[in-house]
Amino acid sequence: MKILVIGSGAREHAIVRSLLADPITESVDCAPGNAGIAQEVPIHPIDVTNSAAITLLAQQLNVDLVVIGPEIPLAHGAADAVTAAGIACFGPLREAAKLEASKSFAKEVMKAANVPTSKSYTCSNVSEVEKAMAEFGAPFVIKDDGLAAGKGVVVTNEAEVAIEHAQECFATPDAKVVVEEFLDGPEVSLFLLCDGKNVVALQPAQDFKRVGNDDAGPNTGGMGAYSPLPWAPANLIDEVVTKIGQPVIDFMHERGTPFSGVLFVGLAITSKGPKVIEFNTRFGDPETQVVLSRLKTPLASVLYAAATGKLNQLPPLEWSTDAAVTVVIASEKYPQTPIVGDVINGLERADALPNVKVHHAGTALKDGEIVTAGGRVLSVTATGPDLKTARARAYGAVGQISIRGAHFRTDIAQKAAN
Ligand code: AMP
Ligand code: GLY
Repeated sequence: MKILVIGSGAREHAIVRSLLADPITESVDCAPGNAGIAQEVPIHPIDVTNSAAITLLAQQLNVDLVVIGPEIPLAHGAADAVTAAGIACFGPLREAAKLEASKSFAKEVMKAANVPTSKSYTCSNVSEVEKAMAEFGAPFVIKDDGLAAGKGVVVTNEAEVAIEHAQECFATPDAKVVVEEFLDGPEVSLFLLCDGKNVVALQPAQDFKRVGNDDAGPNTGGMGAYSPLPWAPANLIDEVVTKIGQPVIDFMHERGTPFSGVLFVGLAITSKGPKVIEFNTRFGDPETQVVLSRLKTPLASVLYAAATGKLNQLPPLEWSTDAAVTVVIASEKYPQTPIVGDVINGLERADALPNVKVHHAGTALKDGEIVTAGGRVLSVTATGPDLKTARARAYGAVGQISIRGAHFRTDIAQKAAN
């Protein structure tokens, strides 16, 4: 099978590596990719918002499958264009990708499918926001309706900060803001592979969204992750498939907008059971780096089955009993205004360590050296027989790498490993 992967993050680096490990894979190409991905497969510069360019590249490469990593090309209709050209595509059509691209749409679907989630209001102006805030009380949860790279959500005890965020969102014409009840409880990311009708769950992971240790500071795209979750309820996967995944997939099918690809369910494990915080319509980053590290079933056949409506023909997925931990190294001033162009030292030493894989995100090649080119730079991933070992290996590898001004959290998987 010839495969084209769209995206340029550590998630795509992990996907590319897993696809290469599948014996049915003949070739993998990636667009636009990054400096790390370029060490493994050909990369092609591309504007991921240009669905016609993605389709043309897929045709030129004569691929059997296109795998779309990020949400932006999905929201621009990349899967629609690739599918219309007769090429199998892993990733939802634009109408179905609205489950991520519009938080108010996701809430409507959850309501219609009777999925457990927080109460919410979709607001068009500040006075509606204030009314919703008065009903729910603190902590306030204020969300930009549209895509915002993990930075559209503010959770705060301070009414002023909440209103200020709503005002910033409303600065964009036709903006909507979703105000919702605060959900209390640890968070879980669960990826459900879907083919329009069937649902196959992957193993759960936990992400660390805030920039600083002990969840201090602003939200980011994700600063680290681990899997498995020793503390999670034993029936979590079954419950999420039965009460959330299947009802949503059935509803989307009945609505005439079947969902295929990954339905990423962001959950809070509350005292009243798991409730949905958000849907994404793609693999999570950095969760994918740990989840795929543990998946033993070859990935290409799995993604092809999802893209072609054949998940029900797939044997049950096989998982390693190993644990995996990933730590994100970010540029100076991420998530505000990341400073890029700094040389990355120690990459080879870190990558050569046993049971360690350094996944590249914002990296580029400049004058023969690998330099930083984005907010999240590397996702340093390690496996081991338990979380403690995987964690020690991941931080051992992080210690080999130096980038001027860079930062990372030192508490990824700490509580779960003890
Ligand atoms: P989202 O982009 O919707 O996942 O939100 C980003 C982060 O904000 C989540 O991972 C949570 O940590 C937090 N968050 C979002 N919605 C809620 C909520 N209703 N209650 C508590 N925390 C939330
Ligand atoms: N790590 C969360 C996300 O990918 O949105």
